[in-house]
Amino acid sequence: MKKYSVGISILSSDFFDLQNTFAKIEKSDLDFVHLDVMDGVFVSNISFGPHFIKCLRPHSKKIFDVHLMVKNPLPYIDAFIQSGADVITVHVEAKNTLKSLKKIKQSGLKCGVVINPETSVKKVKKYLKIVDVVMVMTVAPGFGGQKFMPLQLEKVFEISKMIKSLKRKIDLQVDGGINLETGKSALKSGANKLVVGKFLFNQSDFKKTVSKLKKL
Ligand code: DX5
Ligand code: ZN
Repeated sequence: MKKYSVGISILSSDFFDLQNTFAKIEKSDLDFVHLDVMDGVFVSNISFGPHFIKCLRPHSKKIFDVHLMVKNPLPYIDAFIQSGADVITVHVEAKNTLKSLKKIKQSGLKCGVVINPETSVKKVKKYLKIVDVVMVMTVAPGFGGQKFMPLQLEKVFEISKMIKSLKRKIDLQVDGGINLETGKSALKSGANKLVVGKFLFNQSDFKKTVSKLKKL
């Protein structure tokens, strides 16, 4: 059976009810919490920053996976390291991607690159020596609850082949529009980390749905 992990994106959750949301997350088999940071420039939405994440940190034992949808992440890397992140990912389409990755890596945290739907997999190659994770956006970044883009599975498969040819452990993550069906196709295409947002918050039985996501 393929080993993979499942994380929850809290972007679509009710921020006024986060105490209950985290109580559910902590009791569940979820492996990580995915935190979407949006600057209103790289994407046309604004979410939250390092202080918000720092406030959440003491209330969760889960891995914090911070996704920076930020045009120039470099000036903010230290603040996100201090916020209690375990993994920080930056976009290949952003500025100072390599400098940001090196800074994250030097701090001892895990680092990763993210590619948008319109970006070629070739753009990932030069980062494969340093990253711990590659994330393929399976929706256009900026909002939760969007429809999964199945054409991105070809990129997942391409990148999984690139990773296999290397002698390095690199996780392959997908983000956007994941549910039981699309999650299964992403795993079949070579992914081993799934981010799930709106689909999970729309379910009446949170814990049961997490278990189903973990047995795809
Ligand atoms: C979108 C974010 C995703 C999103 C996932 O820009 O990067 O993490 O919140 O949520 P769903 O599963 O609702 O697409
Ligand atoms: Zn995300």
